[in-house]
Amino acid sequence: MSKEVVLSGIRPTGFLHLGNYFGAMRNYVRMQDEYNCYFFVANWHSLTTHPDTKELQSSVHRVIAENIACGLNPDKVALYVQSDVPEIAELYLYLNMLAYKGELEKTASFKDKVKQQPENVNAGLITYPVLMASDILIHRAINVPVGKDQEQHLEMARTFATRFNHRYGEVFPLPKAFNYGSELVKIMSLDGNGKMSKSENQLSTLYLADEDEAIRKKIMKAKTDGGPAEPNSVKPDYIENLFTLMKLVSKEDVVQKFEADFNGCTIRYGDMKKQLAEDMVLFIKPIREKAADIQNNPSLLASITKQGAEKARASASATIQLVRKAVLG
Ligand code: TRP
Repeated sequence: MSKEVVLSGIRPTGFLHLGNYFGAMRNYVRMQDEYNCYFFVANWHSLTTHPDTKELQSSVHRVIAENIACGLNPDKVALYVQSDVPEIAELYLYLNMLAYKGELEKTASFKDKVKQQPENVNAGLITYPVLMASDILIHRAINVPVGKDQEQHLEMARTFATRFNHRYGEVFPLPKAFNYGSELVKIMSLDGNGKMSKSENQLSTLYLADEDEAIRKKIMKAKTDGGPAEPNSVKPDYIENLFTLMKLVSKEDVVQKFEADFNGCTIRYGDMKKQLAEDMVLFIKPIREKAADIQNNPSLLASITKQGAEKARASASATIQLVRKAVLG
């Protein structure tokens, strides 16, 4: 039996962080044996918000390297760069004729971007969901692991696929959000304000590329308070987040000790953060070093992306032929 297709993309607009790791990449690694996986770096998408491409190529390479350092195996999955697959752009063209100005203007991400960059409300920005739909539909993917913030885009991909199928004949299955295993772990920023971010709030986000000292510094500065006033208190969000991190990277008895200290009102957050910092260093260091080795090896990177592009194009060209035939006859 052929395996179901899983597809997801990541924009190379900053540094990957622990939220990306525990919310996404760790799950991709778990899926790679069971599914036919396509994971790609969405460098065309980043042009909608980052027209300056000086750092684009190195960001693309970093994302590829970090994904492999986290355990993705380019021999098992198709790990590729969006712009290496021109079939996506062709599908984007066809789907653009099926996407209406009114619905595109109503998209939440578009409205946000208009506020963030009023001087650059370009056509790529408004058709962002069409490009994303093309990424997905080009492999006729069904399972799309994405966070909440992408669900509207996914809904639009279903809309465009349905419209295409009605007008030109059945080509696309309808993609759906795909949660693998248990609830996704959410990692908050260390200052307690929102999620960790690829580009904002860098002093409160732990990046996979952070050096040991940066990791220690950020964790030691994480928001805490004077400790609980009563035994067995409910933890404030920012404390809960430290425990979440500790559960992910520390040994179980260590977590239990600090849980007990918290419940008994004897917790010393300074000690907890020191322990967490050391465990985090041990967690991030091998990923950082492996990613750096790959990034420093241009011929390896070239062969990985070539291999990924070949796999992606094999699937993409089969789809685009069906599309051309359906639309043009
Ligand atoms: N829009 C997604 C994000 O910002 C990235 C992305 C582009 C994507 N194309 C995709 C995700 C296709 C899933 C499927 O996170």
